[in-house]
Amino acid sequence: MKTLIAYGTKYGTTRKAAEEIAKSLPGEVALVDLKENKDLDVCAYDAILIGASVYGGNIQREVRSFFDQNHHDLVAKPYGLFIAAGNDLEVERNYRVYVGKTIYDQAEIREYIGYSYDFSKMNFFEKTIIKKVSKVTENVENLDKEGLKNVVQWVKEVERRLYKRETDKTAEQGTGTEE
Ligand SMILES: Cc1cc2nc3c(=O)[nH]c(=O)nc-3n(C[C@H](O)[C@H](O)[C@H](O)COP(=O)(O)O)c2cc1C
Repeated sequence: MKTLIAYGTKYGTTRKAAEEIAKSLPGEVALVDLKENKDLDVCAYDAILIGASVYGGNIQREVRSFFDQNHHDLVAKPYGLFIAAGNDLEVERNYRVYVGKTIYDQAEIREYIGYSYDFSKMNFFEKTIIKKVSKVTENVENLDKEGLKNVVQWVKEVERRLYKRETDKTAEQGTGTEE
């Protein structure tokens, strides 16, 4: 079982969530920051997770480019989406509206995984906006444990499906030889 977790992040929340997910997964896991590695072969994986965070109303450009480049191969594979954002409605808004209806509708899971705010990483303008809009004034980490758990469970479900397909195939071949 090979799983790809490809993500975009501005301040590291999505990377941290991706690492948490990876720790609990069976088999081989490739963790890829899409800013650093843009040339991925999604066909080489059994399950694909794409994560992003919302910044100023949109997800990272490198994540949107990933969908543009891999749309065709991705929709032929089991894949899931997750998002870090101040607002849980951002999952649908960003993936369905900005990335596309097909990508959103065909995803097997679409999870909200929470947010964090680290004021030491923000510039003056960002701090002012966050304090005003989110009413948050101190560092906070609020990862959504339920969302993370659902993502892990989904990958395990894909693994069970693959295993069943393989054992069914072996059984069929066995029957064929006997005849
Ligand atoms: C400057 C700034 C702008 C943000 N804009 C949005 C936004 O438009 N919508 C939203 O739901 N969350 C917004 N957030 C919250 C981030 O999505 C949240 O902090 C998330 O944990 C960031 O994940 P990352 O560290 O992986 O980039 C914003 C955060 C900052 C600091």
